[in-house]
Amino acid sequence: MTYLISAVFYSDCRRTIIKHFAAFLLLFVQLNAWAEDSLVLPIGLDTSDYIIPGDNPITDAKVELGRLLFFDTRLSLDGTVSCAFCHSPQFAFTDGLMVSRGIGQQTGNRSAPTLVNRAFSAAQFWDGRADSLEAQVTGPMTNPIEMGMPSLEYVTGIVSGIPGYRDRFQKVFNREVNIEDIARAIASFERTILSGNAPYDRFQAGDADAIDESAKRGLKLFEDKARCNQCHSGSNFTDEKFHNIGVDWDGGTVDLGRYLVTGQAADIGAFKTPTLREIALTGPYMHDGSQATLEETIDFYDKGGNRNPFLDVEMARPTRSLDMMLTMFEDKTNTGAKSLPAEELAKLNLTSQDKLDLLNFLKTLGGEGWQRIEPPVSFPQ
Ligand code: HEC
Ligand code: HEC
Repeated sequence: MTYLISAVFYSDCRRTIIKHFAAFLLLFVQLNAWAEDSLVLPIGLDTSDYIIPGDNPITDAKVELGRLLFFDTRLSLDGTVSCAFCHSPQFAFTDGLMVSRGIGQQTGNRSAPTLVNRAFSAAQFWDGRADSLEAQVTGPMTNPIEMGMPSLEYVTGIVSGIPGYRDRFQKVFNREVNIEDIARAIASFERTILSGNAPYDRFQAGDADAIDESAKRGLKLFEDKARCNQCHSGSNFTDEKFHNIGVDWDGGTVDLGRYLVTGQAADIGAFKTPTLREIALTGPYMHDGSQATLEETIDFYDKGGNRNPFLDVEMARPTRSLDMMLTMFEDKTNTGAKSLPAEELAKLNLTSQDKLDLLNFLKTLGGEGWQRIEPPVSFPQ
């Protein structure tokens, strides 16, 4: 047992103290002996992939401060939107919408990803434009259609104008409220939003009955005929890389994705492989929320995604050179012509039973951890 356990089970802590005083004492002792190498996570997650930056060690007071800020609507211009507004525990830390809605009912063009297991990734956002959780936090605060604050100084002013927060910042960071510490506290809280110990994990750990026969066939398909694990790999079901699988390329505007960050033509339309943990709860799916259900998503992969010049090699049969891609891209923009012949798409040829099995497998990735996090009952005044 380590600090992290106490963070994850934070909301239960008070009850635990009363019911199991001895257990709490044990926790307390181990809390003082906190060391990264003794990190204990829900089963199935890989401790060695869990990222804690050297300059932002986790403490329980910091996590609690981050939880308060995360749920506090005073961090938005009109006092209606908090981080939790779009990343709500009710929807496994997403918002259940196709694309997010911020202050004044304004909508953006990307779907809110779940925040479970974000501690396992360096790059944040669909296009990876923030390279840490700390770096991500301030983005939504000043985004005019999300929390709409005029500047980060303004955010700092709001928080430091609340005496209850000033006290907490003194206790946690031993200094005045500043935007970097606001980000550190929220990022620390986010590191406690976890999902593991799913039926899939228990199956992998040796419990043969943890998932049914259909899900077992689905797992085999995931790793084999449907080749999902070429990208959704590792204990968090992502390779942490960026791929163009053709979402968006069926008409309408194209979101250039990773290209907007790197300026590399090969990254046009590429997005970060998202985790599949809690996937049954986090629809609609894809960066634009274009797939309403998991059934639709499986059909999308079955037909090989959408044709476009930058389609990932895993999604199309031939490996194309960048020059070929660029020529095809020009063709598309100039003529609107379909740039890849249909036969080049790597169709999966899944039977209806295969699709059902794959779906049942995906449902076994619903686990535990994040459910213990509750909105604060009251906020610092
Ligand atoms: C108005 C809705 C909205 C609000 C408010 C909001 N987010 Fe988000 N969040 C999103 C959307 C949409 C994305 C994806 C944007 C993108 O990738 O370009 C996102 C992405 C993220 C990511 C990246 C996740 C990943 O898988 O890469 C993190 C972390 C995150 N938000 C945390 C926060 C925090 C912390 C706050 C509060 C300071 C917050 N969000 C406020 C909608 C919102
Ligand atoms: C070539 C890499 C790759 C392969 C192969 C792949 N995926 Fe994905 N997956 C991605 C990327 C990248 C996204 C996000 C794409 C976007 O939004 O533009 C994604 C998104 C998803 C989503 C939506 C997640 C969310 O939170 O919105 C699901 C569900 C999914 N994949 C399941 C699967 C399944 C099932 C398979 C196998 C049939 C599969 N994937 C194969 C890379 C891949």
